[in-house]
Amino acid sequence: MTSFRPAPAWLADAVFYQIYPQSFADSNGDGIGDFDGIAERLDHLSWLGVNTVWLNPCFVSPFGDAGYDVADYLNVAPRYGSNDDLAKLVDRAGRRGIRVLLDLVAGHTSDRHPWFTASANDPDDHRYIWAPQGCPDGFVASPGSRPGAYLPNFFAFQPALNFGYARESPDEPWRQPVDAQGPRANREALRTIMDHWLGLGLSGFRVDMASSLVKDDPGKAETSRIWTELRHWLDRTHPEAVLLSEWGEPEISVPAGFHTDFFLQFGGPADGLALRSLWSNGSGTVNLEWDPLDCFFDASGKGSPRPFVEAWQRASTALGSSGFISLPTSNHDFSRLNCGPRSADQLPAAFAFQLTWPTLPAIYYGDEIGMRYVPGLPDTEGSVLGPRYNRAGSRTPMQWDDGPNAGFSTSEHPYLPVDPAPDRPTVAAQRADDTSLLHLVHRLIALRTATPELGPNGSVEVVHAGYPFVYVRGGRYLVVVNPQQGQASYPLGNIRPGRALEVSGVAADGGTITAEGFGYGIFELPG
Ligand code: NOJ
Ligand code: CA
Repeated sequence: MTSFRPAPAWLADAVFYQIYPQSFADSNGDGIGDFDGIAERLDHLSWLGVNTVWLNPCFVSPFGDAGYDVADYLNVAPRYGSNDDLAKLVDRAGRRGIRVLLDLVAGHTSDRHPWFTASANDPDDHRYIWAPQGCPDGFVASPGSRPGAYLPNFFAFQPALNFGYARESPDEPWRQPVDAQGPRANREALRTIMDHWLGLGLSGFRVDMASSLVKDDPGKAETSRIWTELRHWLDRTHPEAVLLSEWGEPEISVPAGFHTDFFLQFGGPADGLALRSLWSNGSGTVNLEWDPLDCFFDASGKGSPRPFVEAWQRASTALGSSGFISLPTSNHDFSRLNCGPRSADQLPAAFAFQLTWPTLPAIYYGDEIGMRYVPGLPDTEGSVLGPRYNRAGSRTPMQWDDGPNAGFSTSEHPYLPVDPAPDRPTVAAQRADDTSLLHLVHRLIALRTATPELGPNGSVEVVHAGYPFVYVRGGRYLVVVNPQQGQASYPLGNIRPGRALEVSGVAADGGTITAEGFGYGIFELPG
């Protein structure tokens, strides 16, 4: 068992906010979000109470996959501003107590990255995985003078960086061991990239496809070893920085070295189900392999919080105090909360749960006002993955106001269409209305921030894993959420709800607690 330096103290209090830079705020009227736009909106973030921003990739890129096809890891895409503009944003955010994480695309580059163009023309270069001749299944023919074919990691234009294979195979002569020269150069490159941005004041990275590095790696043992080595390096050189993985299996990724890992929309029956069993209602970004399932946050009341609670219990037992699990509302790859049959009136209960469960909450930009997943949008920068897996609907411009372009300053070149509904939610309207979702999310974050028992280190006792979902945090706070349309009651026995801290449609009568449809309540138990 390798021991790491404990996670930096700030991480336990983190409330993440994910910004898709294309679509957040446009300062110069070209229709594409940028760093200055984000800087101008720091008021919104600090008022909301979030303290850790994760920016999707903002590096030089041909944008075939929205920036996940990096062509230069050390320079930002000019459409977002300059490296100096990013440094200024980080500084201004820092003065408001907001940290900024970048997205580290560790497993692949763009096919326009100079490393790749060099490799495609030099048979002795092993930064990528090359079959020396022909084009084996799953490979892509060489675009250069080098014969053979390369292995992509996601889209064909995203060649996999070579971190080696966990085992050899006589039929696949291109498999190199993890300590071959190419893999070593790539590991070194990851350190160089991290060091570069951490030196500029960034606070860490969300790591894209973190489990994908070493190929044919049973149990991800060799991939884990790479992250362990990087974590030890980070512990020594940048002890305040954190690594947040896109892995989706905290019980593997955190022992490997990540400070925290997301429950995600993909993955097998154990961890993958954790998130989908809460939010996946069969609309929006639908993967036919996994869906449909009856999710818990659905008016029908056919779901259950059990698959989530069980997955969380397993993972959190495995982790102990070594790291954290992160729970997103949604992300740029997955349906927003407000999607299909789930309407805005169902979101308060979802946030009451997400912001009081012992995980690190991650709010996807726009979810705090209940922005809706917009179906049927055209492919933009690689957003459409299949007939039923369209990510564009979660990537539309932040709806700052009800102007024609939702606050983006041009109507001629909007990055993507906005929600066409005439009554679409906006920040401006919700900020002016203290009964809005935005105000509720603001109050819930404030409550969580002021109440360590509601954070990731407070205990949780599940009283009822059904409708209503009832649990006690830190022995002191009772939470009740009823994500179905119908009323639901539960006999509380000796528990008396006490003072209501945040409540809508939940009341106790005698020993029974009753929640109206979509009701929620947070109570302080009598001392
Ligand atoms: C996961 C990212 O979240 C997604 O948007 C991207 O397309 C793939 N990784 C490939 O980098
Ligand atoms: Ca712009």
